[in-house]
This record gives sequence, structure tokens and C-alpha cells, in this order.
Amino acid sequence: MLHCDDNLRRRLLLFISLSASLFPSLSSSAKTKVKNPYDERRLLEQNKRRQRENNAPEDFPNFIREGFEVKVVTTEKYIKCDSGLVYRDFEVGKGDCPKAGQQVTFNYVGYNESGRRIDSTYLQGAPARIRMGTNVLVPGFEEGIKDMKAGGKRRIIIPPELGPPVGPSTFFSAKQFEVFDVELVSIQDCKRRTIGFYSDFVCE
Ligand SMILES: *[C@@H]1O[C@H](CO)[C@@H](O)[C@H](O)[C@H]1NC(C)=O
Repeated sequence: MLHCDDNLRRRLLLFISLSASLFPSLSSSAKTKVKNPYDERRLLEQNKRRQRENNAPEDFPNFIREGFEVKVVTTEKYIKCDSGLVYRDFEVGKGDCPKAGQQVTFNYVGYNESGRRIDSTYLQGAPARIRMGTNVLVPGFEEGIKDMKAGGKRRIIIPPELGPPVGPSTFFSAKQFEVFDVELVSIQDCKRRTIGFYSDFVCE
């Protein structure tokens, strides 16, 4: 369903180039630029240090950001999907995956590329609830949870193109990867309920 490539499990490096989609006119010059492996190692060490300072969880992906290009470095436990989404399952869970129209109840912790916690339902005090297929989540998040099962625990790495929309006035560096640790608590069926002119969904 997700078109993810298991063969890529063995690959340690996942190359993702932002340059082509963001700045078509610049991408050719960026490609001809010779990469300095020392710069890359330095940037990787810098990212690792930031993540340690932020107490990023174990096996967190690293991001090497050089100009317009970002390289995502993960262990072989991560799987890459055709869409660009990358994930790792910690627990697979049991039962069926949620179908469009069903409600999923889940907890998450969101992190930025520095491994800094930026958002969490655990801090909000209540899990999130959304109905699948209603476009209320960023595309990468919905794709990342739609083949999870109740009890499943997964880390998803959302590339900027599957993340929240970034307005034209926003500086390009706002195009960041986001990482979410998601725990799918339960899946509920929903029924439409109509009272007079008012209509909503009841899920249980
Ligand atoms: C992550 O968030 C922290 C705190 O808001 C911020 O200082 C840091 O620059 C962010 N990292 C990235 C890569 O955006």
C-alpha cells in the first residue's frame, strides 16, 4: 500500500535533494560543485552534537544540510517509501489498519532536525483524534500512519514536500524535515449523525 522499498533497508544514506524543486535555475550549478567530505563530516558531527544537547531519542536520524541540499542519514532499520517518506517501526501492533472515514486515536512527539521536541500530545494531556482521509493532517503524517495498527509505534521522517505548506513569503530554510514518534492507540468506526440541520460524526 505504501510502496516502500525494503531493499533500501541496507542502505545507510538516503539522499534527498531539495534543490531541483526549490531553485531549478540553481540546481545545475549546485550539482557541479565539488563536495568536501570534511565539510560533510563536520556538519554531521554538528548535527549529532545538537541532537545530544536536545536529548534526541535513540537511533534518531541525522540531517546534513549543505546549502540547498539535505542528506538524511539513518541506520538500516529505517525504510524509505517512493514518496520520500522514511520510517522505522518499533512495534507493529495488532489488527487492521485504519480505513478512510475511520477515526484514529494516537499520541505523538514531534521533533525538528536538531532533535528538539517541538510538539507532543503527551504534553497536551490528551491523544489526538482525527478521521482518516479527511485531509486534516499534513500529507506525510497521514501516509505515515495509514498502514499502522493499534498498539503500533513508529518513527516517521517527513520530508518538506510532504510537510505543512510553506507560503511564498517564507524564507526557504523554513522547509525543514520533521520527525514524529507516533503511537497508534486505537481505531474507531464512525457514523454520521444528523440532528435537524446539523450533522456530524460519532466515532466509537
Ligand atoms: C529546532 O528548534 C530549536 C528550538 O526552537 C531551534 O533553536 C533550532 O534552531 C531548531 N532546529 C532547526 C534545524 O530548525
